[in-house]
Amino acid sequence: MFSAPSFLASYPQPHKKISDLFRRISTERQSNYKLITEKLSVLLKNAAEKLKKDSFNILSVGCGNGAGGDFLIFEIVKNFVVASRKKTSMFYQAIEEDAAELRFFKESADSWSSENRQLNSSFRWFVGSWQEFQTETKSDSTKFQLIHFIHSIYNMDVENTLCDCIKNKLAKGGLIFCLVADPDNPLKRFYEAHPSFHTPIISSEDVVSVASKNGWKYDCFQVPYQIDLTEMFKESSADGKLLMDFFTKTKEYRSVAEKSELEQVEKYWLNDSKVADDGKRKTFGKVCAVIIYKF
Ligand SMILES: C[S@@+](CC[C@H](N)C(=O)[O-])C[C@H]1O[C@@H](n2cnc3c(N)ncnc32)[C@H](O)[C@@H]1O
Repeated sequence: MFSAPSFLASYPQPHKKISDLFRRISTERQSNYKLITEKLSVLLKNAAEKLKKDSFNILSVGCGNGAGGDFLIFEIVKNFVVASRKKTSMFYQAIEEDAAELRFFKESADSWSSENRQLNSSFRWFVGSWQEFQTETKSDSTKFQLIHFIHSIYNMDVENTLCDCIKNKLAKGGLIFCLVADPDNPLKRFYEAHPSFHTPIISSEDVVSVASKNGWKYDCFQVPYQIDLTEMFKESSADGKLLMDFFTKTKEYRSVAEKSELEQVEKYWLNDSKVADDGKRKTFGKVCAVIIYKF
């Protein structure tokens, strides 16, 4: 099951081993779930109450295998449908360029919907990029009550993507939900201090700036998360080496780096972390939910 922390998602093809490591040492996924449960669920309920048709349409862009939030959204939609006793059905359009991830999602969603028949759900699976989907659906008039990007907007043209959604794909009264890294995230701070490792990272600022430039109403919420860096300071730790390689984008960084540069990098992370009550050395970031509304 793959879900990368937000700053890791800005890498074009995050490495599975690193993604798994971050799942163990970072609390980011819990923060994502908190934003979906506490913020998105209320808005979905309101949007469903205003729904004139009987189908609640959701577009999930860069859904991965669905574990990052899609199944949580299914549950939320199911719960308010059951609570309201409305005969609402859910139509879910998933877009993902990684065929294996989408196949995994489809299998899990098939079994989810057969176990949750109180919600009449139907799915469409698009294997390919968002850009290909945009081209192929140019004349499609389907409108969605929710369009979401759960840590998936990082490699897209933010302005083109959001404008197309607002203009052509989002229903009136609907919302776009973007989970993105906060501008003050650990990797960005590190790159700012070490320009030689630099990679531009899309953050909530980029989404907010498109929304305000276009005069759209939006909200922004943040939930903190932490990453346990303890292993990175242990020379013999395999996890620690992997983490160091990831931050510096250098294979076997501990062995190949100049001693003085390695010391500098270690010193940086010592300063950008602190020892928590459980004795682990942690660095901190925030996940942002930028929510854009269409009236
Ligand atoms: C960090 S993962 C997040 C996956 C999922 N939303 C989650 O939270 O677990 C980003 C996903 O977006 C997909 N992705 C990135 N750029 C994409 C694009 N242009 N079109 C379609 N999928 C894209 C990647 O393949 C990857 O599965």
